[in-house]
Amino acid sequence: MCGEMSLLNLICYNVASEGGEILLYKAPRGTADILPEEQGYWRYIEDKAVALCRLYGYQRLDTPAFEDAGLFARSIGESTDIVTKEMYTFKDRSGNTLALRPEGTAPVCRAYLEHGLDNLPQPVKLYYLAAIFRYERPQAGRYRQHYQFGFEAIGDADPALDAEVIEMAWQFFKSLGLDHLFLYINSIGCKVCRRGYLNSLKSYYSAHIAGLCLDCKTRVERNPLRLLDCKKPSCHDVAAAAPKSLEHLCQDCGTHFEAVRKYLDILKLPFEVNHRLVRGLDYYTKTVFEFQPLDQGAQNAVGGGGRYDDLIQELGGKPTPAVGFAAGMERVVLNLKRRKILVPHVPAPKVFVAYLGNEAKLEAIRLASALRKDGVAVLMATGDKSLKAQLRQANSIGTSYVAIVGEEEVKSQAVTLRNMSTGEQQVVSPVQLKRLLKE
Ligand code: HAM
Repeated sequence: MCGEMSLLNLICYNVASEGGEILLYKAPRGTADILPEEQGYWRYIEDKAVALCRLYGYQRLDTPAFEDAGLFARSIGESTDIVTKEMYTFKDRSGNTLALRPEGTAPVCRAYLEHGLDNLPQPVKLYYLAAIFRYERPQAGRYRQHYQFGFEAIGDADPALDAEVIEMAWQFFKSLGLDHLFLYINSIGCKVCRRGYLNSLKSYYSAHIAGLCLDCKTRVERNPLRLLDCKKPSCHDVAAAAPKSLEHLCQDCGTHFEAVRKYLDILKLPFEVNHRLVRGLDYYTKTVFEFQPLDQGAQNAVGGGGRYDDLIQELGGKPTPAVGFAAGMERVVLNLKRRKILVPHVPAPKVFVAYLGNEAKLEAIRLASALRKDGVAVLMATGDKSLKAQLRQANSIGTSYVAIVGEEEVKSQAVTLRNMSTGEQQVVSPVQLKRLLKE
């Protein structure tokens, strides 16, 4: 395994039993390659996500992988774990302080303002599929680079929009076959009623400070909301009896939350109010929600979101309410696998063109090109291998047919077509071949 400290360990090597091959580099810790055999899961999820966004009227927005680091500090919050411990921040050659995107909402809001989307009829509905970077301790379902599917509805305060976003997230999971998820909701109020709530949390926790973990001891002053979702068992008990945000909501926030619950009932979405759900980003106001698998620990939320009515103003815009959601793609894949949900294969090319001899190679190159121009997916043999080796290759790739061009075929201007599942072979003209393969 690769250690983190010593230079020697940085060069991870792996001497293969034969050939003495040396592996000089590995993917950075906490990142993963998505190999061809995994791609079926990713295409499946992306296709469902895109179809869902079309259904709900969301348009795609792609933002850069890095932004001014200040954007994230200002929106996610200076004292959050993401900003203090997890951001990949760096200076470029011009001295600009940039950060790899640690979440998708702030860049969407920045783009909304930068491109004058506030002048369009509101709400503006946008979605993204993007790589996210957080320097976290890697473990199952937790990476330093992960991908999110997220969507944001900007410019409307109606609680019906909160419910629609939650329903859309629910439908996303359902369309994938993930119907084992628990929906938790809560309201953490607005900046007016939050003040009173934070004071009451602080005095409660100050009285229980002795039993808290080291991180939580500092959170009492720094970020009291996050005391509630500490995963350490000792803090768990203290949090269970802590004051609840719902008891401190102002009238507007109380009415809003009541309406969200009513709409969720109308939509027949089962949910549970979780007083300890606060989320790890400071921009949230009022509604917060999360989807968690029934069979896993609380830190494995597969998706979450909420309302963030102050963020656009915080970034220099006029007061603009908004609500959104994001799911972690790796966690979705993990859950699909755990639930043994089968996904469609990414199809292999239909035919493998094999050849025997130099003249046949020229004919095979011509044939492969003509078939592709006709829309048939072709894998062309290379490297002058034996027919046996070529058939083995076609078999491992899973093509349905092999078109064999040999000396005889060159003379007779024909092709031998082998059906890989039955082993049957027939000699056909190039025109017949095209017709058969396009059927
Ligand atoms: P978040 O809860 O930090 O929210 O991330 C969204 C989802 O990304 C999580 O529920 C989880 O599935 C996945 N995720 C987070 N961190 C990791 C990681 N290190 N490795 C793998 N998966 C991870 C946000 O980022 C908000 N921007 C969501 C939002 C959109 N709120 C409003 N609009």
